[in-house]
Amino acid sequence: MRIHFDEAKKIFEIQTNNTTYLMGLAYDRYLAHAYYGSKLEDTDVQYLLRAPYETEFEKYWFNREKVEKMDSLCHEYSAGGVGDFRDTPLMIRTEGGYHACELVYDSYEIMDGKPALEGLPSTFPSEHGAAKTLEICLKDELLCLKVYLRYSVFEDSDAIIRSVKVVNEGKEKIYLERVLSTCLDMDNEAFSLYTLHGSWARERDITGRPVTEGKHIVASLRGETSHQNHPFMMLTTNGTSQTEGRVYAMNFVYSGNFIAETELNQHGYVRMSMGINPTGFEWVLDPGAAFVTPEVVMVYSDTGLGHMTRTYHDLYRNHLIRSKYLHQKRPILINNWEATYFDFDDDKLVDIAREAHEVGIEMLVMDDGWFGKRNGDNCALGDWFVNEEKIRCGLKKLVERVNAEGLKFGIWFEPEMISPDSDLFREHPDYAIQVPGRTPAMSREQYVLDITRKEVRDCVYGRVKAILESANIEYVKWDMNRPLCDIGSYGLDREHMGEFYHRYVLGLYEMQERLLQDFPNLLLENCSGGGGRFDPGMLYYSPQIWTSDDMDPVMRLGIQEGTALIYPLSTMGAHICVCPNHTTGRVTPIETRANIAMAGTFGYELDITKVSEEDLEKMAACNKLYHRYNEIMREGDYYRIASYRETNYYDAFACVTKDKKECLMTFMNVLYRPNRQSIKLRLAGLAPDAKYRLEETDKVYSGDLLMKAGILVEPPMGDFFSKQYHFVME
Ligand code: DGJ
Repeated sequence: MRIHFDEAKKIFEIQTNNTTYLMGLAYDRYLAHAYYGSKLEDTDVQYLLRAPYETEFEKYWFNREKVEKMDSLCHEYSAGGVGDFRDTPLMIRTEGGYHACELVYDSYEIMDGKPALEGLPSTFPSEHGAAKTLEICLKDELLCLKVYLRYSVFEDSDAIIRSVKVVNEGKEKIYLERVLSTCLDMDNEAFSLYTLHGSWARERDITGRPVTEGKHIVASLRGETSHQNHPFMMLTTNGTSQTEGRVYAMNFVYSGNFIAETELNQHGYVRMSMGINPTGFEWVLDPGAAFVTPEVVMVYSDTGLGHMTRTYHDLYRNHLIRSKYLHQKRPILINNWEATYFDFDDDKLVDIAREAHEVGIEMLVMDDGWFGKRNGDNCALGDWFVNEEKIRCGLKKLVERVNAEGLKFGIWFEPEMISPDSDLFREHPDYAIQVPGRTPAMSREQYVLDITRKEVRDCVYGRVKAILESANIEYVKWDMNRPLCDIGSYGLDREHMGEFYHRYVLGLYEMQERLLQDFPNLLLENCSGGGGRFDPGMLYYSPQIWTSDDMDPVMRLGIQEGTALIYPLSTMGAHICVCPNHTTGRVTPIETRANIAMAGTFGYELDITKVSEEDLEKMAACNKLYHRYNEIMREGDYYRIASYRETNYYDAFACVTKDKKECLMTFMNVLYRPNRQSIKLRLAGLAPDAKYRLEETDKVYSGDLLMKAGILVEPPMGDFFSKQYHFVME
């Protein structure tokens, strides 16, 4: 890792182990982007720092053709209103209503370390690698506005982390209408754009299309990351595979409205930008005030998707997730949601715990329905008091009873919500997000709490805290089951209402920070109606996130492939579901459900008191395998071997320990294909010269052979067969 400024040539150089990022001054004023890609030793790129179509001679006519130059230069970060007609990362408005803002280079600073972003999740240096940060200051003289571009790198990573700070040094207010975290202008190399999309129960499906003229926007306006679109995009060159091709990726460390945009202009330049969604956003910057954007993690790979994926996995494990549970095997849990829904009581939970202990399950999670008068999904959110008609022995006693059965105890909350039919709403109707005079639209018969207001956060958090203090509770599932709309807050005046969405996310982060400070031993799992808020922002607070309400192993192949494209397997909440599955009706063998769930945090969501003896025995066997294999999945390097999306009938992925001594490949034959008895799978990430023994057969292969020639798997007749292959270095 190296950050350097060449004073003579006015070129900034950022080096990671395998990549180089270069920018410099164009026309002695503007910070222009020169290069991002494979490592360069020769960084003399001054000749690239000008508008694309001009001749050497025309460069001296700058003022005559300034608009064309502003519109075609590869800017590092440009502002709107002075000739760059692409979507600019910064758009401001003055008190007088003017938009023009011209950012010119002012100064720079190179620092050891990486400053944290106040109130926001951010990557940090750790024992895995120190950090260096470059901060470049751009300014608009007339507005007295300074824009600080921050770039951080870590010793052990190829990622570059960017964020922006805007400071108003003038005497008048400045209204920020759009302030994104990154902008990356470069040549279009016949790129394809890949993004992640979906819906409830089918999140993060990998979707691609060629980059064509105009704009392509992926965004959320739901106040959360969303099931539908994901704050991730990557551009890939033709023929990109797991091991080949150039990939430029961006992922946003944020949990609210976002925008990820690509724009191809008339000169064949593509602009990638990412940040807080400007729709519905406006921030008032008072004189002397600063606004800091969340950060974007950029990764470039010239060896295909696999290197990009592993760079994100390692960065998030080494520099983002703070939880002490990150490197620990999480307890195998059983959650009562799909077992009982709202129909349970203390005895039922203890019965589940007793049976669960028999097969080696380690924690019981009491899901929705234990509080207020909650016997359905239409009431009581906000009334975080134990329903003693259901939990007749009281919470403390219930937890003691579950602990006595040998299980830890976890609990579900939905702290950001308020039911119209709740005592909290009857007492404080103004606590719900709303526009005065308009009845807010309900979703799941609930409203959203206005957590932009401190008194609302204090009230709800106080109730959550009291519950957690009342018993030996070791895990919390923090759920969020509807998007935000009818935006309005009694805590914000007309001028500041545009700050609502961002303040909501800041309020959420503040509440989760408080939870972690007050309960440092708590294992926190975030969740949003399944996987609607699976993002790097939430990973800063919780080491695991519920990936999807869909636990059907076939659906999970796509959901987990899309999620694992960026996020480590140790972060993916994954459980064995009841059969037939409640979202698809599909009947699958328990071993298959187990193998797919083992690629995540592992647990169960079924009524174990109704499971057959045969399945109980299988569950006990699966739990033993989880203990044996979890470390490989949790800490290893992830390799995509084959994708059901592409093969249409089978899927395979592998994890290899960092020392390359063990490899676990998970295979699933989704649909049996007649007259195709064996499938060849090439492994990856092994030591070519080492010998590996396949545990099941004791047959020994060289790493080289396994990676080049592969092994043959022979699925039996029938659908949904799955198997794990464990290779151990001799
Ligand atoms: C949505 C979650 O994803 C489910 O697991 C469950 O907790 C329900 N909410 C409860 O309402």
